Amino acid sequence: MKITVIGTGYVGLVTGACLAEYGNDVVCLDLDSKKIDLLKAGGIPIYEPGLDTIVASNVAAGRLRFTTDVAESVQHGTVQFIAVGTPPDEDGSADLKYVLAAARNIGRLMTDYKVVVDKSTVPVGTAEKVKEAIAEELAARGVKLEFSVASNPEFLKEGAAVEDFMRPDRIVIGAEDERAIHVMKAIYHPFQRNHDRTLVMDIRSAELTKYAANAMLATRISFMNEIANLAEKLGADVEHVRRGIGSDPRIGYHFLYPGCGYGGSCFPKDVQALQQTAVENGMQLKVLNAVESVNEGQKQVLLHKLISRFGDDLSGKRFAVWGLAFKPRTDDMREAPSLVLIEALLAHGASVVAFDPVAMTEARRHLGERITYATDPINALEGADALLIVTEWKQFQVPDFEVVKAKLKTPLILDGRNLYEPAFVRQHGLEYDAIGRR
Ligand SMILES: NC(=O)c1ccc[n+]([C@@H]2O[C@H](COP(=O)([O-])OP(=O)(O)OC[C@H]3O[C@@H](n4cnc5c(N)ncnc54)[C@H](O)[C@@H]3O)[C@@H](O)[C@H]2O)c1
Repeated sequence: MKITVIGTGYVGLVTGACLAEYGNDVVCLDLDSKKIDLLKAGGIPIYEPGLDTIVASNVAAGRLRFTTDVAESVQHGTVQFIAVGTPPDEDGSADLKYVLAAARNIGRLMTDYKVVVDKSTVPVGTAEKVKEAIAEELAARGVKLEFSVASNPEFLKEGAAVEDFMRPDRIVIGAEDERAIHVMKAIYHPFQRNHDRTLVMDIRSAELTKYAANAMLATRISFMNEIANLAEKLGADVEHVRRGIGSDPRIGYHFLYPGCGYGGSCFPKDVQALQQTAVENGMQLKVLNAVESVNEGQKQVLLHKLISRFGDDLSGKRFAVWGLAFKPRTDDMREAPSLVLIEALLAHGASVVAFDPVAMTEARRHLGERITYATDPINALEGADALLIVTEWKQFQVPDFEVVKAKLKTPLILDGRNLYEPAFVRQHGLEYDAIGRR
């Protein structure tokens, strides 16, 4: 099938490469010419495990191309996936300007039937706006061409995006005409050989499903963070509590890890956008209001622990931060809790030495040279007054605690991701505090 993917970011590039892997003829469009030049030169603009291999092999096979040429991209695909960003607008609602610009381009330049698929995370009602935008452009040209609009929200996780796309838990297709449903089912058929995971539904339900999924995951995290904070007050250990409730099949273990707050390009903006959708419809989502405010507070937890240890004035103190990306296996720094913590440390007069296995370049974009970037995790500790762990990278999980202790000026670890057994760390003569642990 001839497919165009509009927007070659985390979602678009993975979608394009994975669809090409199954034999489709894919063109990926982006307006960012630096990104497209890099891809054309064989580079990959983001860190995503396995993506480089699959992009390279499909480019070599002639099934995957990159362009900034809108006319070429509209011409190419019978199916046009819109995978552009939907960042938060000032009021928290999703800003649809990129989605609607992509839709208008299609209307302006199409010459035959297209299935236009919203893969970006978009509020309920967006497909109707996309339809209107295309129809307006066609009317302005005075041409009559058929097209379908479908919703196909993406559930991939950064850090495991290729794997998730290739082996999806479910494929949600929101479509209301048979032609679009048929095309979408054909595209996803090879991704679900052992059993059908397609959920076909009306477009509005598909749009809402994506927000409800992210909101539920964020809710679990904030819930566990509150339980962890209470556990600290009560002298209970949230790790025992986590296992005690996760073993209930009605609850399950996923997304029950307390920590120093969730971040990333999806949960914060999607929770806000869903709240805003509710407000526009005369409702308050009380649970989500709490989820967001708990998360804002949780991003301050490590700072508060430091202040209660060293006092409010942290000038002259130096802190080592392990982990900058919002989660492991990605270089994505959007809404990363590390940024909030580091800004607060700097504002309290401290200096920061940070290490992340892949996100240092991205971090520099956000923080510039206001902090020091260490060449490895151990170097970061030299003379530091504490080690703060913000991202649970595998390589932080079994450090040599003797070396950690020797390097630190103050032998203190504040662990925002509960990586270690407190008793084991303390055996090495380190002070250790985590989230909700005894
Ligand atoms: N990142 C994730 O983990 C994830 C997961 C599921 C869903 N989503 C959703 O997918 C969408 C894309 O997210 P992302 O993380 O890939 O964003 P991104 O910022 O990495 O990529 C978006 C790309 O779209 C390009 N773009 C913008 N307008 C364009 C236009 N008119 N034509 C062509 N290209 C254009 C930008 O230059 C950018 O490269 C968002 O709605 C997001 O919420 C993201």
